[in-house]
Amino acid sequence: MKILVINGPNINMFGIREPEHYGKETYADLVKKIEGYCAEKNIYCECFQSNHEGELVDRIQQAYGCFDAIVINPAAYTHTSVAILDAVKSVSIPTVEVHISRVEEREEFRQISYIRQAAVKTITGLGTDGYLRAVDFLAEYIG
Ligand code: DQA
Repeated sequence: MKILVINGPNINMFGIREPEHYGKETYADLVKKIEGYCAEKNIYCECFQSNHEGELVDRIQQAYGCFDAIVINPAAYTHTSVAILDAVKSVSIPTVEVHISRVEEREEFRQISYIRQAAVKTITGLGTDGYLRAVDFLAEYIG
């Protein structure tokens, strides 16, 4: 099984950025944690982060025919990007939406998620463990 983990804008600032929402782990810590977990489960994974919407769309398109599942935290693009939603719909790869913080308890503008329509599951508020729960879910979902 091959999983692509995609993170959107400002996720590379984890560890520095608003620790009250995003904790103290860095993006490098997050990648290490996901890679270690997938290795234990014999799952091939690749992690990709970009601050640019078009690059996120490109990476999703390139996953077509190469990956069995996607874990995505589109970050701020969650609340604005029809392009990322359309990209996930285009490739029809089972996708789990992850947010570190409990977005449903935050500002009004964070209550809209475009990606959610295309996601088989959404996980919020579990910190970086949310990515591992997404991997567990997809391993079961894909079988
Ligand atoms: C986030 C929540 C988004 O609202 C925010 O823009 C982010 C991170 C999260 O992981 O909790 O950048 O996706």
